[in-house]
Amino acid sequence: MRSRCIAPLLVPILLALLPGLSAGPGCGPCDPVLCAPLPVQGCPAGSLRDSCGCCSVCAAADGELCGGRRAGARRCGSGLECVRSRDDKKSKMGVCACKSNYEVCGTDGTTYKSGCALKTASLAAQKEGKEPISVQNKGRCATAPVIVTPPGEVFNVSGSQVYLSCEAVGVPTPVLTWKKVVGGKRRAELLPGDRDNLAIQTRGGPEKHEVTGWVLISPLTKEEEGSYECHATNSIGEASAIGAIYLVESADDVIIKTVMKEEEEEEL
Ligand SMILES: *[C@@H]1O[C@H](CO)[C@@H](O)[C@H](O)[C@H]1NC(C)=O
Repeated sequence: MRSRCIAPLLVPILLALLPGLSAGPGCGPCDPVLCAPLPVQGCPAGSLRDSCGCCSVCAAADGELCGGRRAGARRCGSGLECVRSRDDKKSKMGVCACKSNYEVCGTDGTTYKSGCALKTASLAAQKEGKEPISVQNKGRCATAPVIVTPPGEVFNVSGSQVYLSCEAVGVPTPVLTWKKVVGGKRRAELLPGDRDNLAIQTRGGPEKHEVTGWVLISPLTKEEEGSYECHATNSIGEASAIGAIYLVESADDVIIKTVMKEEEEEEL
């Protein structure tokens, strides 16, 4: 029986312990009938009790003002914290910011910039009568690889130094491999193979979840002429793109062929 009497008493005690939020002066006796109704369209950041622990009010959303004194104090919605400016120590006001400021993947398959952005989207979805959205995993949603920069075509003379590059993005970050296409797509030789004038290099970036790979050839011989396939794969899927290396007779041909290729690309 005792605990039933204590529970309502604990609320004002707990509120009094929170700095700047104390329900003290300014809070009259609570009469729920006098509370202003919540907006019919709902609250973007959800609702909570006002600082007097009496009426239901809209919580301050991500980026909105919070804090303040006594009865007028505004509190942030769940998952948010009130961050006060460091320059202005005297100010009692702050701005609501997300406690967990990292990307999350929602159960709707969308990547949100923070848990709070997801919460806002979830409340909006529910308002439209849709399923609420919850966190599926931290970080971005998994996506199949996409080749963002396919390997182009290079022309050069025998004995020269050439390279093809390929850039792919995906979550998890894709793994890149190169194949030399020999006699149609059926037969492909996984590179680098055993050629000592050919090397494969891969590194992460430039952006997060991106990977860039190169086929480096030096010196170029008739043997390396042909098509090269850049292949990106992760747990979700795969993607590939083809580039080519051509051996030409003279340095003049390098220029002519390169210019011709550029004109061709402009026409497309
Ligand atoms: C052609 O080869 C020369 C000499 O190795 C090199 O400096 C140049 O970058 C190459 N050009 C192309 C388009 O690969």
